[in-house]
Amino acid sequence: MKELKLSASKNYNITITDGKDLFIEKCLPYLSGEKVAVITDSNLMKIYPDYFEKLLPNKKVFYYTIKAGEESKDVNNYVGIMNYLVEKEFSRNDGVITFGGGVVGDIGAFSASTYMRGINLIAVPTSLLAMVDSSVGGKTAINLDKGKNLCGTFYQPNGVYIDLSLLKTLPDNELKSGLGEILKYKYVDGKKNISLDKIDEELIYNCLQIKAEIVAEDEREGGKRKLLNFGHTFGHAVEKLNNFTLAHGICVAIGIGYALRFSEKYYNGGKEDFNTYLSLMQKIGVDFSEAYDKYDKDKLIEIIKYDKKRKGDAIDFVLIDNEKKLRVVPVKIDDIKEYI
Ligand SMILES: NC(=O)c1ccc[n+]([C@@H]2O[C@H](COP(=O)([O-])OP(=O)(O)OC[C@H]3O[C@@H](n4cnc5c(N)ncnc54)[C@H](O)[C@@H]3O)[C@@H](O)[C@H]2O)c1
Repeated sequence: MKELKLSASKNYNITITDGKDLFIEKCLPYLSGEKVAVITDSNLMKIYPDYFEKLLPNKKVFYYTIKAGEESKDVNNYVGIMNYLVEKEFSRNDGVITFGGGVVGDIGAFSASTYMRGINLIAVPTSLLAMVDSSVGGKTAINLDKGKNLCGTFYQPNGVYIDLSLLKTLPDNELKSGLGEILKYKYVDGKKNISLDKIDEELIYNCLQIKAEIVAEDEREGGKRKLLNFGHTFGHAVEKLNNFTLAHGICVAIGIGYALRFSEKYYNGGKEDFNTYLSLMQKIGVDFSEAYDKYDKDKLIEIIKYDKKRKGDAIDFVLIDNEKKLRVVPVKIDDIKEYI
């Protein structure tokens, strides 16, 4: 077992372990009310219908299950959850557990953050991506018709419980998607104590330590937290060009390739990072050159124009300089093409 503390607008513990034995000790104290709503998705409900049996003694436990998939992170399910909590007479001291990947985590946390202006929240991430990234740091969201994550809050959970044994049932492409986000940490962390070779407590701990330090310093993404978006501007564009059929982390991994290529041209830098990147991409099962040839540059730029990070006629890109440090750099939209 490993444990991390995150100090932001709430201070909380992140428990990283293999199994659910520590859940009662680590999380139950934060679920003080008599009712708990477990928000989950159809896949998890099918595979782990009894996961919380015996973990929530003396509680009235309710389940709200959304259909698995990104489309479920929408306004309808959000309103559905809100009405469900009202119907079940949840009060301010009752709590929510999110049990699922980033989709469940984002919509469940958004619901917890807005129900009666905020109720207790425990995150139990089940996908690798949610374990190393989305369950920690307090970004909550739902998608709107015009785009992803356009509606959301910053709301830290009261605890995060990472049970690595859940990964046994995670489909292989979702595992690779998680590796894509892990790859990002490799570039964010100058010390590079991140390896994609073995998924274990230590790897998750190392990733989350990087994230926890950054979030503690800049919870609302005014500065340093932007670095965690490395690869994401192109990643989101690739995701959109694929109509969201390619897993988020895989798109981020491809986006990192674009960001490295961009950085090389922008800083006139060496090729070392790019070769390391290409070999790491083999572990994620993506051939970057193939992906690079596949996507039309103008179409990518057309999508990037509407990125949330746009300020006037420029977009903030996270680039890696010649000292291998990440930097946030505003680049004029008209100039993007010459760097990719
Ligand atoms: N809030 C944040 O900081 C943040 C950060 C990164 C990504 N995100 C969001 O996270 C979402 C992507 O998350 P995701 O990749 O976890 O997707 P997801 O939640 O859709 O999960 C991927 C798939 O794996 C299944 N699954 C999850 N855990 C499983 C398990 N243990 N066994 C079997 N199947 C399992 C799910 O049912 C789903 O079909 C996106 O909406 C993205 O915007 C949020």
